[in-house]
Amino acid sequence: MTEPVPVIRKLEQALLDDDFAWSLVLTGEDQTDKLATLTGDLRGPVSTTGDGKQITSGFSYWGIGPTIAWANATNDPFYLVMKAGTESFLRHWRKMRPHITKGGFHLVSLGIGTGVKDRTILEDMLRSNPDMYYVPVDMSSEMLRLGTGEPVRTARFPRSQMLPVQLDFSIADNLGELGQMLGRLVGEEPLLYTLTGNTLANFDDDEELLQLITDVLRPQDRLLLEVASTTSLDQETAEAAADEYHQTRAFAEFVTSTLRYNTDLKIDNERVKFIGEVEDEDALLVKILWQNDTDEEIRMGLPDHTEVVLPVGDTIRLYTTRKYSSQRLERLTGACKLVPVEVIESQFRHTRRPSPFGLELLLLKPGAPTAASGGSLADDIWSQ
Ligand SMILES: C[S@@+](CC[C@H](N)C(=O)[O-])C[C@H]1O[C@@H](n2cnc3c(N)ncnc32)[C@H](O)[C@@H]1O
Repeated sequence: MTEPVPVIRKLEQALLDDDFAWSLVLTGEDQTDKLATLTGDLRGPVSTTGDGKQITSGFSYWGIGPTIAWANATNDPFYLVMKAGTESFLRHWRKMRPHITKGGFHLVSLGIGTGVKDRTILEDMLRSNPDMYYVPVDMSSEMLRLGTGEPVRTARFPRSQMLPVQLDFSIADNLGELGQMLGRLVGEEPLLYTLTGNTLANFDDDEELLQLITDVLRPQDRLLLEVASTTSLDQETAEAAADEYHQTRAFAEFVTSTLRYNTDLKIDNERVKFIGEVEDEDALLVKILWQNDTDEEIRMGLPDHTEVVLPVGDTIRLYTTRKYSSQRLERLTGACKLVPVEVIESQFRHTRRPSPFGLELLLLKPGAPTAASGGSLADDIWSQ
């Protein structure tokens, strides 16, 4: 009797012969746990400063409503920072490219978004390593479906070398399992992990997330990190940073979409506040929150059919973002024992007056800088 052929081997052929729009996703987590987490977070304590009830990082993008809202926000011509960011990424990546295209890397994209940046990276990587794998990792299966269309359609990246993974990468066990699975998939070949689009800044504890990612890096792996930056660290600049997000209606639709789709709260954009402050003297923190600024309590229905009371002044934190100073980046990467291989920085040019804001793209490798080698290289790069 012949052995049965494992379904996964048969599947590739079966899908190739069909022009229906199938997509394969490896689901790493029980989605009911995610809904329970979101519901629990929305039941948090009363706070007037956005530090009680909250929507944490990946939940802002989780589900079809938030995914469409994010895609609309990134395409909004009035969202100037996003536009400038997409353009500067192209220039920055070109300078990073030589470090990657020589090495036979595979790509692990942490947070795919619309896939536009992955397309740029993949075009170059595939040319130099036609056997490469592309593993986009995202909490949102809808975002994975949307984002992977871009490299496949526009850059003709082969579907058979792509493995989308639905997983919350802010959970230590998840990242550990992902790292081990990828190790078994590629053996000793190097992986380029990417965390672009200022995603690091969305996490309450950004150092903790960076450490989790660093923990899965093997000596041959690299991390490409893109963050928003500032050269100025005062209250006025913090308010200007908050204002930047206030300017587009599409962004307001995006930040409120998780509440719209998961609760019965009636959302009035007037109740959404954009608050900027200086954080730890080395970064600007922007909190976007919904606040009950009426003179009556409001009741909000949750996905488990319970209700939560929002007293006058109570808030729900919708989104967190930051702009990093070079000192903060140096402190973060130093704490996680990441060594810069290349750092490229640019200021925004769309404003009439010089802007303190810009973007930094960093290529990092694991390992503490030593006095003899890495230390001096890192110092040279940071002081550029
Ligand atoms: C700011 S967007 C960046 C998208 C893209 N990398 C870029 O540069 O434009 C953040 C992406 O990360 C995903 N994400 C955020 N937090 C996550 C988490 N904890 N686990 C998995 N995915 C997450 C979101 O769904 C979204 O696709």
